[in-house]
Amino acid sequence: MNVIKLTDLDLSGKRVFIRADLNVPQDEAGNITEDTRIRASLPSIKYCLEKGAAVMVTSHLGRPTEGELNHEDSLMPVAVRLGQMLHTSVRLITDWVDGGFEVKPGEVVLLENCRVNKGEKKNNEELSKKMAALCDIFVHDAFGTAHRAEASTYGIAQFAPVACAGPLLAAEMDAISKALLAPKRPLVAIVAGSKVSTKLTILKSLAANVDQLIVGGGIANTFMLAAGLKIGKSLAEPDLLAEATAVIEAMKARGAAVPIPTDVVTAKTFSADAKAEIKTATDVADDDLILDIGPQTAKALADQLKQAGTIVWNGPVGVFEFAAFENGTKVIAQAIAESSAFSIAGGGDTLAAIAKYGIEKQVGYISTGGGAFLEVLEGKTLPAFEVLSRRASA
Ligand code: 3PG
Ligand code: MG
Repeated sequence: MNVIKLTDLDLSGKRVFIRADLNVPQDEAGNITEDTRIRASLPSIKYCLEKGAAVMVTSHLGRPTEGELNHEDSLMPVAVRLGQMLHTSVRLITDWVDGGFEVKPGEVVLLENCRVNKGEKKNNEELSKKMAALCDIFVHDAFGTAHRAEASTYGIAQFAPVACAGPLLAAEMDAISKALLAPKRPLVAIVAGSKVSTKLTILKSLAANVDQLIVGGGIANTFMLAAGLKIGKSLAEPDLLAEATAVIEAMKARGAAVPIPTDVVTAKTFSADAKAEIKTATDVADDDLILDIGPQTAKALADQLKQAGTIVWNGPVGVFEFAAFENGTKVIAQAIAESSAFSIAGGGDTLAAIAKYGIEKQVGYISTGGGAFLEVLEGKTLPAFEVLSRRASA
């Protein structure tokens, strides 16, 4: 897709407005528990500073009520962390929509949580125009929010004098395109999570492209049911059996496959100290909960992953937060790490698994997107790219 890139532009002395995704997890006291998104936003900010721009950065944090800035909604902890990373102090500006604050060339300020502005979520035109008036150049670098058409991600891009893609947004798209458009085969996708319903579109679109579609978690349970297996009282969606069967058939017709687990790890209750039992997939009892794939299944999948040319990973295959049910996810993570395939991973739980098994450096590309990553996998054109490409051709 043709978009203007930040590096195409002359930034010297320009007022640059960067929409980043600095929506980081925090503990109850407000401490940042994971700062990948802040680190991933640095290249864009540093580049603008080096080129002599006056830099304004904003982001949403959480899902606050518009018109109210509560203590927990504030980007203050992000301003502090950003300042530490940039070795400078980063001023946090509140009530910034109407301007009235100074930013010097070579300086960066953080504009308070853009989602407290009235009209942000609904992409209000007046708000968008006010934000656009603050800058000469709008930089969309918020991949994690690229699936949302809000005032700071979409409206501003329509009205700013120039609207371009930041380096993170561009890198994310390049990595996903590399994985899905002209992948080195076999292309193996792992789609796991609790519900088929939330990932049905992705499953269907991947079923038309990938060579192996590994399902995990509650999704795998529904596929096991579709394959005629008993799953006891495991989480599943029996009303989606026909959809699961259709995915299996579509894959078969292309000579591809959805591997169904041959063994599983079960428990009688969902808890960290529940007694884990390894069972053949045909032996699941009526009162069993399937909480992980079994070791034989994990090994078979690991072998496939090691031979893959490209791997797309979204979702842990079991309850990896509990030691007794983490083996499947751990084996898969290690297989991805050892595979020579180009791998791309995204989604909050997946990132937590990657961190837990320390394989960050062995994954080809780790996406900062949750919902946005999934929508790209679904084959959708994200609003960010739609508006930026329109601005590039205008
Ligand atoms: C995310 O955390 O996935 C992004 O920051 C988007 O947040 P949202 O789902 O609240 O729009
Ligand atoms: Mg979210």
